[in-house]
Amino acid sequence: MKTLIIYSHPNTGGHCAEILKSVVDELKNKKTDFLLLDLYKMKYDPVLHEDEHYTRGKYKISKRNKEIQKQITDAEKLIFIYPVWWNSMPAMMKGFIDRVFTAKFAFKFVNGYPIGLLKGRKAAVFITSGANNFFSWLIFRKRAAKIMKKDILQYCGIKTKVFQFGGALEFNEKSSLKIKKLVNKGLNWLY
Ligand SMILES: Cc1cc2nc3c(=O)[nH]c(=O)nc-3n(C[C@H](O)[C@H](O)[C@H](O)COP(=O)(O)O)c2cc1C
Repeated sequence: MKTLIIYSHPNTGGHCAEILKSVVDELKNKKTDFLLLDLYKMKYDPVLHEDEHYTRGKYKISKRNKEIQKQITDAEKLIFIYPVWWNSMPAMMKGFIDRVFTAKFAFKFVNGYPIGLLKGRKAAVFITSGANNFFSWLIFRKRAAKIMKKDILQYCGIKTKVFQFGGALEFNEKSSLKIKKLVNKGLNWLY
């Protein structure tokens, strides 16, 4: 499996769902092998448990999360899709990262310096926000995009680009066309 899609949205309609549909259609057209992790559908448990708390020396990783880590190891490309919630991401996605992108798997420290362990991979991150792209930049300096790109994925060594669909208020035909364009742009960068 070369591409892993990680999708985090509770609804089956709307902007993120359309992005997912468009991504899947494109990957099928390209005949690219992919695997989809739809976190809400999987009823993924996003809570980091006491015995997983690695900064306290507890490195338990559940069977399911080990499988996911193996899927990440095998993947050359990662695609993340989620809405901006409170300038960040849904708790479901955040919990997924807490439990899966663990120390010794995704990064390690050498003399106090963090080293990403997932080098050689690329990630396209598709996010949607109520604020349009201009206001996301003007007011928040694209913080939501930066958290995922710089603080999380690039920290782990993954080359990352974020594709933001701003002004995601009412979903309609016009949004659907714009989403197709954004997805094409993202996948052209990724492949
Ligand atoms: C809990 C919650 C928090 C949100 N926080 C933000 C935010 O910080 N910035 C923003 O621009 N939009 C925010 N929104 C709006 C969502 O980003 C927007 O509804 C979503 O991207 C639309 O995509 P969808 O149709 O796939 O749900 C928030 C929405 C919810 C439900």
